[in-house]
Amino acid sequence: MLRGDSENRLVRTFRPRRRKLGPELSKVYERLKDDWSIAEHGPTLDLLEVFGNNNSVCLEIGCGRGDLAVSFGPTHLDHNLIAIDIHTRGIANILQGIESHSLENTRVVEGDVLVLLKRFADASLTEIWVFFPDPWPKPREQRRRLLRPDVVRECARVLKVGGVLRLATDIEDYWRKSVSVVAANESFDEPEFSRPDWRIETVFERRGIKEGRQPVDVSWIRQV
Ligand SMILES: C[S@@+](CC[C@H](N)C(=O)[O-])C[C@H]1O[C@@H](n2cnc3c(N)ncnc32)[C@H](O)[C@@H]1O
Repeated sequence: MLRGDSENRLVRTFRPRRRKLGPELSKVYERLKDDWSIAEHGPTLDLLEVFGNNNSVCLEIGCGRGDLAVSFGPTHLDHNLIAIDIHTRGIANILQGIESHSLENTRVVEGDVLVLLKRFADASLTEIWVFFPDPWPKPREQRRRLLRPDVVRECARVLKVGGVLRLATDIEDYWRKSVSVVAANESFDEPEFSRPDWRIETVFERRGIKEGRQPVDVSWIRQV
């Protein structure tokens, strides 16, 4: 069970926000969401049934505007991708990408990954990506960060042995503390620092670079 703090309740990792979709994107969203979405709540997912194949499944946590999912799907047809975010706009953008590229290998989840993670069977995912997570910089907010012990434990459970947990962030304190959090979990190997060539630059990354911050990519392989 994902809890996150001693008060034994779910500690949210996102900032709620309401922003309306424009009329075009609203239509796309309404037309496609039922066909390409996975519900946040529900029984354990049968990924073979979801995708109709046995290809490896990657999970992008916090897909934001959806740019990476839209670029990854068509260029990695031998992989499946589940992209999740709380906010509707990115989900709608990905749905549009699914339609325009006739993608069969991409699904979206509009919801909280802390809830969704419970739907994955043990050792069912090949990769989990946490790219430019909300930084929660203030010390009293840091318990809201995604890479905290309870979430890392759940990532270890759902990743296959040999599967990879990836983080990219331009907040030095974030990656350094994440390295410590993951090191405390015996499932993961030593961190590796390299950027996958398919990880395109997103708006968040570009903004950080403009403001003088350097992105750092860290990954950990589940070893046991
Ligand atoms: C700073 S944005 C980065 C978006 C994207 N990865 C990128 O690089 O452009 C972080 C995203 O994570 C999402 N997020 C945070 N906590 C989440 C959670 N528990 N479940 C799903 N999405 C979450 C936020 O809604 C936000 O869109």
